[in-house]
Amino acid sequence: MNPSKTAELATPALLIDIDALEKNLSTMSTRHPDSKLRPHTKAHKCTEIARLQLSHSHTNFTCATPREIIGMAAAGVGSDFLLANEVLDAERLSALAKVSENVRVTIAVDSIETIKAAVRAGLRDVVIDVNVGLPRCGVAPELAGQLADTARKAGMTVRGVMGYEGHLMMVNGDEKRKKRVDESMTLLGRAAQDVGGEIVSAGGTGTWDMHDDTCINELQAGSYALMDTQYAELKIPFVQACFVLGTVISRSQDWLVIDVGLKSLTTDHGNPSVDGYDVLFCADEHTALVTKKDSAVALANIGEKLLVRPSHIDPTMSMHSAAWAMRADEILECWQIDLRGW
Ligand SMILES: Cc1ncc(COP(=O)(O)O)c(C=O)c1O
Repeated sequence: MNPSKTAELATPALLIDIDALEKNLSTMSTRHPDSKLRPHTKAHKCTEIARLQLSHSHTNFTCATPREIIGMAAAGVGSDFLLANEVLDAERLSALAKVSENVRVTIAVDSIETIKAAVRAGLRDVVIDVNVGLPRCGVAPELAGQLADTARKAGMTVRGVMGYEGHLMMVNGDEKRKKRVDESMTLLGRAAQDVGGEIVSAGGTGTWDMHDDTCINELQAGSYALMDTQYAELKIPFVQACFVLGTVISRSQDWLVIDVGLKSLTTDHGNPSVDGYDVLFCADEHTALVTKKDSAVALANIGEKLLVRPSHIDPTMSMHSAAWAMRADEILECWQIDLRGW
């Protein structure tokens, strides 16, 4: 079946509002044109969306998995890829080394082990991943220079540093967030001086407008393209462009149930949202909804379709094999979420 209207879709179905997506891409690329933005592909895992980011002047991409880089290179989208993640798997690193014969592949390292694994696989380019406060990957800032020396001695080209301030994305209040970002970026700036190289990479959607005067020369934002309800709380100028379409499959007098649940979106950032409704709870295949207090909206009928706004875009995208690009109720194209997997 080739559906032409969203009402014809089997649900749950992932929908992408193409005008909202375009608006987000152009807002971001106006502020961070060309190589000032290294869009993070992990937020959508879709080469069609990456192709649109390319058309907005971005040729350099951030990736979280070897699979993302390999898929992007095979699709001919982008020419310079940063794997902003630590990888030890020899087979995947060798596959990346093969890809690096045709496009530039730079991998983040934060230990002697990750350097050795990259060298063994035949990769040449690294950035030193610096911990700027998020308790995740990254070497302590004061050890970054030493690790860079180790990488150079092992024959690698050290292109610079990255330091993702993920712990600050949702800090409440612009001023507070900015102050904390400055503190984190001071750490990254010092590490960058010790390390050398041309790349100083950090940032995300929540700090997209807080780096004009920091040390970084590229922003790694990804969620801005499709957005989610958690980021919407920040009142940043990006709009919801991705929805999960559900069908009302059951209703009582007081609540209704749609066929969108934990198998088609995640709730790690809170429950999803549906206009006019409050979420009672999400289960594997179901979400139960009640109308908002004082809402004029009547409970939808069995068979009606409702748009659900995910609270966390990245893992939601990777639960679907395809997305329907649409305008109003018109389906324009079907896009494969082709960069899933590791
Ligand atoms: C290394 C890295 N850089 C950048 C980002 C930015 O992503 P977002 O646009 O979702 O804030 C992330 C998200 O988790 C990340 O892990």
